[in-house]
Amino acid sequence: ILTKHIAVLPGDGIGPEVCNEAVKVLKAISERFGHQFEFNTKLMGACAIDATGDPLPEDTLDACFDADAVLMGAIGDPKYDNNPGAKVRPEQGLLRLRKSLGLFANIRPVTAYDALLEHSPLKRDRVEGADMLIFRELTGGIYFGEKGRTEDSAYDHCTYSREEIERVAHLAFQAASARTGKLTLVDKANVLETSRLWREVVQEVAKGYEQVKVDYLFVDNAAMQLILNPKQFDVMLTENMFGDILSDEASVLAGSLGLLPSASVGERTALFEPIHGSYPQAKGKGIANPIASILSAAMLLEHFGLQQEASVVKDAVQNAIDHQILTPELNKESSYTTEQVGSYIAYCVLEGAEALPH
Ligand code: IPM
Ligand code: MN
Repeated sequence: ILTKHIAVLPGDGIGPEVCNEAVKVLKAISERFGHQFEFNTKLMGACAIDATGDPLPEDTLDACFDADAVLMGAIGDPKYDNNPGAKVRPEQGLLRLRKSLGLFANIRPVTAYDALLEHSPLKRDRVEGADMLIFRELTGGIYFGEKGRTEDSAYDHCTYSREEIERVAHLAFQAASARTGKLTLVDKANVLETSRLWREVVQEVAKGYEQVKVDYLFVDNAAMQLILNPKQFDVMLTENMFGDILSDEASVLAGSLGLLPSASVGERTALFEPIHGSYPQAKGKGIANPIASILSAAMLLEHFGLQQEASVVKDAVQNAIDHQILTPELNKESSYTTEQVGSYIAYCVLEGAEALPH
């Protein structure tokens, strides 16, 4: 019997609602396959500030260090967004967690589901079949450089070391080797010194992966190409802030931000979370799409080496999509609640693909 410890950080806004559904699905997996998953739920984000004054309490960080994986919901609260003077912010918790766990690579798969293409902002033929994997560097660059502020000026330094680029590049090249074998490095090497280092290091790393074709794009062009011709991308590799921006842009191609999962991996416990935020306007309304969170749980299973279990979850999600068991942003006429979508998917996981739609 396989035993795994999973730290659960539901967070703020819709985080707890979608995270609940992911846990429900993981429980269905453990029941069907006879595994033992132990969940340890902790505070992070605005809820942690309210309770303890700290967005990442000691006890939460300890639980993450002790776990085999971390499952996160979402963090953030509007009361901090329009208050630039706030000393403590929910986002600091997540950034400190990424740094403490050494999560240097954030992996965001973008898949266009055929049945949902009418919801994409792009015309069907442009997105149909799009399937890319974004590798975003997650613990360096402008997010973590020296910051400073005087009364009338402010700065954020962007720094990268050769080693920081190499380790994430290797992961991206390995993923590209296992796919169709194309990798696009996105940078701003016509302007930024850090980007020139990225190109230099990526060119060196590329020598070890002859089967991978490498392309280079400036970030402004990449932002445009994502809309013009998203199908040209396979694996995209980029630095922290460009990756933050481009992955949000890429995420809507699929038709809803509520569909896309992510994995953050590195030196210690890996973390899995939907790419969407805490969507505070939807909190408590039962309209949040749990699919991104459930697919993050599927990535967590893959990370445990449980490929079959991960496939069962993905098939169950596909089944929900095929039967239109979807939240309102994807099914206006007869939508289902967050909980109903999660329960349906968990039911499909337990019963197999023949599960009934209702
Ligand atoms: C993300 C989020 C975070 C980021 C915020 C919440 C700090 O936007 O995971 O993409 O900018 O990395
Ligand atoms: Mn983001």
